[in-house]
Order: sequence, then C-alpha cells, then structure tokens
Amino acid sequence: MKVCVLGAAGGIGQPLSLLLKLQLPAGSELSLYDVAPFTPGVAVDLSHIPTDVSVSGFVGDDVEAAMQDADIVVIPAGVPRKPGMTRDDLFNVNAGIIKKLIAAGANACPDACFAIVTNPVNSTVPIAAETLKAAGVYNKRKLFGVTTLDVIRSNTFVAEIAGKGTSEVNVSVIGGHSGVTILPLLSSVAGVELSQSDIEVLTPRIQEAGTEVVEAKAGAGSATLSMAQAAARFTLSLVAAMNGDTVTECCYVQVGDDSSSFHAQPVVLGRQGVDSIPQLPPLSEYEQKLLDEMRSVLEGNISKGIEFANGE
Ligand code: LMR
Repeated sequence: MKVCVLGAAGGIGQPLSLLLKLQLPAGSELSLYDVAPFTPGVAVDLSHIPTDVSVSGFVGDDVEAAMQDADIVVIPAGVPRKPGMTRDDLFNVNAGIIKKLIAAGANACPDACFAIVTNPVNSTVPIAAETLKAAGVYNKRKLFGVTTLDVIRSNTFVAEIAGKGTSEVNVSVIGGHSGVTILPLLSSVAGVELSQSDIEVLTPRIQEAGTEVVEAKAGAGSATLSMAQAAARFTLSLVAAMNGDTVTECCYVQVGDDSSSFHAQPVVLGRQGVDSIPQLPPLSEYEQKLLDEMRSVLEGNISKGIEFANGE
C-alpha cells in the first residue's frame, strides 16, 4: 500500500505523517510532498523511526513523482483560518491548491483514493470531483472529504457529559464540515441517553469546535494535532478496507448518481473505496429541522466549488 501525503511538512501534515509511519501496516510506503524545501528532511527524520514503513520526501515540481502509483492520497495542504474567519473565507486560496494537486493526481495515480482535509471541505471535494471528471478519471467511490474530526470531537464531548470512556462512544456526524452543516446525531448514540437540553448544548459546541481551537490559538492557525489524528484514523480505516476489512466511517462523499450531491454520513468502506452508503438512522425532530435548515448552505458550498472548477 502506497500512501501519499500532500502538505506533509505543515502543521497537520507532520503529525499525520508521524501517525502513519507508526501505524501503517508493515511493508507500506509513505510518500511525503510539500512546497516547503525541508520536506525531504521531514522524510529523513521519520525514516529513523523503527517501523517497517519506508518513507520518501518530495518538493517543488515533484508532486507527480510523489504520487506516482499511490493507492491513497491524503491532502491537508493549504492555508488555515485565523480568528474571525469562516472556513469559506479560505476558498480563494485553497480552491486553486486543490485543483492543481488533484489535476496532478489524475495523471500520476488516476486509480487512487483521494481523501481531502483542505478547507472548505464542503467545496474542495466538489472541486476535486470536477477536476477528476475533466481528466476523465472520476470515480465517486474513491473521493472523500475527511470529516472524522467532527466524529472524534463528538465522541470526546459526549463521553465527558455521559461519564463514559471515549472508546465506548461512537457518534455519527452527517451533513458537511462547516458550522451549521455539521450535524451530530446525538439522539441515537448507542449506549448513551442524552437529554434534549444536553443535545441542544452539545450540538452547537460540536458545530463550532473548530472555531474554539482557532480562537484559542489566537492567530497561529487552526486544529493540527486533533486533525492529524482524525485524518490518520480515516486513512488507516481506508487502508484496512482496501486490504479486505469492512469498516464504517462517517465521511463526505457523493451520494447517489447526481455528481453535485455531496453529503457526510456513515459510509461502509471496502476494497474499492465506498462500498455502500447505509440508510441514516431515524432522526429526532430537532435533528431533522437542523438537516432541513442546512441544505441550502451545503448546496451553495457545493455549487461554489463546481463553478470554480469549471471556470464559471
Ligand atoms: C477544524 O474543524 O478544526 C478544521 O476544519 C479547521 C478549522 O478551520 O476549523
């Protein structure tokens, strides 16, 4: 299994690469790319850790070389937000970065699974889909927006409030990865009964948890360590699935045949990426209302990405 990280020398990329070096199955290859000139140094640094995962580093024009024949490409490249910004405020810079990287991936590893961390995920994933389509290599089963951070945050906060161990809690989070489009399904967490008032406190906290980190970092960026853990968990689940396990993760994928219809929800992963997308559990009245209210926001984010990718 060859896993390529684009943006590997950055705040998310370095801890993500470390987690992958430590946890990828023996015999895997980890390929690191970043525009930062010291990226080969990050690869050398990691290569001294005694695990059976080989590491190589690429920089500058070598993005296609880094991705050559990759099975999975994980992309945290791009700029983070500062206090007062929304994820959508990153669109102007990060949209172009994703388009360029995905176009290179379409040449170097057209059959790879692409997992996008770069914000605004609600729009960068549709940009990637359009870019792959333009290159004639789009496969909706192999393109993912990584929304795992919403899941691990929900698990942490719910475990705290319910007095459970974090490993006993598994919250599904649906919608997208920004503000009101983040919808944790707190009414149907197995083994946990939350009161409606707890749910109405926790839901906005989970929706704004990214902003909580941005404000706490006071201008020095957004979540890096928890995002690295989230992206590593998703990547390792995908590796396990591609190796034959059946794994379910919430992620942002094309649902149905309409290529402008992206949604985060629990997805069964298999050898070819998305294996199946199960029906959602029954939603409470409160969750259904939030889902109805987010639709227009999510659709706007998706259209913005599609229009950008197609130069409209
Ligand atoms: C997060 O959820 O922490 C990330 O999407 C980064 C951000 O800007 O909030």
